[in-house]
Amino acid sequence: MEQQLKQLEQEALAKIADAADLKALNDVRVAYLGKKGPITDLLKGMGKLSAEERPKMGALVNTVRENVTAELEKKVAVLEEAAILAQLENESIDVTLPGAKVRAGNRHLLTRVIEEIEDLFLGMGYEIVEGPEVEKDYYNFEAMNLPKGHPARDMQDSFYISEETLLRTHTSPVQARTMEAKKGEPIRVICPGKVFRRDTDDATHSHQFMQIEGLVIGENIRMSDLKGTLDALAKKMFGAEREIRLRPSFFPFTEPSVEVDVSCHKCSGKGCNVCKQTGWIEILGAGMVHPNVLEMAGYDSTKLSGFAFGIGAERIAMLKYGVDDIRHFYTNDTRFLSQFHQAEV
Ligand code: PHE
Repeated sequence: MEQQLKQLEQEALAKIADAADLKALNDVRVAYLGKKGPITDLLKGMGKLSAEERPKMGALVNTVRENVTAELEKKVAVLEEAAILAQLENESIDVTLPGAKVRAGNRHLLTRVIEEIEDLFLGMGYEIVEGPEVEKDYYNFEAMNLPKGHPARDMQDSFYISEETLLRTHTSPVQARTMEAKKGEPIRVICPGKVFRRDTDDATHSHQFMQIEGLVIGENIRMSDLKGTLDALAKKMFGAEREIRLRPSFFPFTEPSVEVDVSCHKCSGKGCNVCKQTGWIEILGAGMVHPNVLEMAGYDSTKLSGFAFGIGAERIAMLKYGVDDIRHFYTNDTRFLSQFHQAEV
């Protein structure tokens, strides 16, 4: 029996040494020390032993149990430590690896150009106002001196929603809305916003684009005020050396009407591909507010006068940043947009 015990002890210790994880170790515990294990069986057989042998064997069984238990506990500690080390190893962070870059977004180039123009006019005491993109025919055309059937309506192909509503074709309806709201008081506003025209999209046309309308009404507002204002705009957007020139034009809502050119910022007027060899680049339409427009909105055209202008935001951005296709502003390819990340606007 003693022999058997010794052998069991050796076996158990060998298995403990071999156990690779905590589960295997527990299996050893159950197999050798459990109620159905061989050591318990041996204890059960002790009744058959003689009176002198019994205490000897009892002591021996206890020693074996203690040895096996102690060995188990030691191995548990070893495995637990190994498990912790493995976990630390797995979860360790290599601080020398390059970090994942956080890519910061930036404002859209058009937004920035519009904000720059807003800044200039805010500094000159203008208010910023807005109007609806879905507009009444009345404000888009009639109040702008374009009655139904007027041939100049064809200058701006329109998206009609119903007989009397359309997507505004320009920001000029905000002129009429502002005049109605100000009820005969002087006005100094700019109005940035989206406009829509039934054009086929190509490098220079977009069915949706941005305009910035300007409107000033007061006593003795003259063409020279318009010219000075637009001169400041041209210098702010294209450089202090820029000059402007006004060419006669036609808009039903202004009289006289002008087209405004800025001296070419690329060749300083010598002639290049940007200005098509002319030295000048057209940037906007403007004029003195037509008396009919004033009267329709309740302003006395014998006492007050005003000027208005409409800037195409994309055109300014394209010229200033050398963008050759208006569609870049709307396809939102980040390879395009991110180029202007650091651009100083
Ligand atoms: N509304 C005109 C256009 O879209 C521009 C303009 C605005 C012209 C104000 C004169 C005065 O073409």
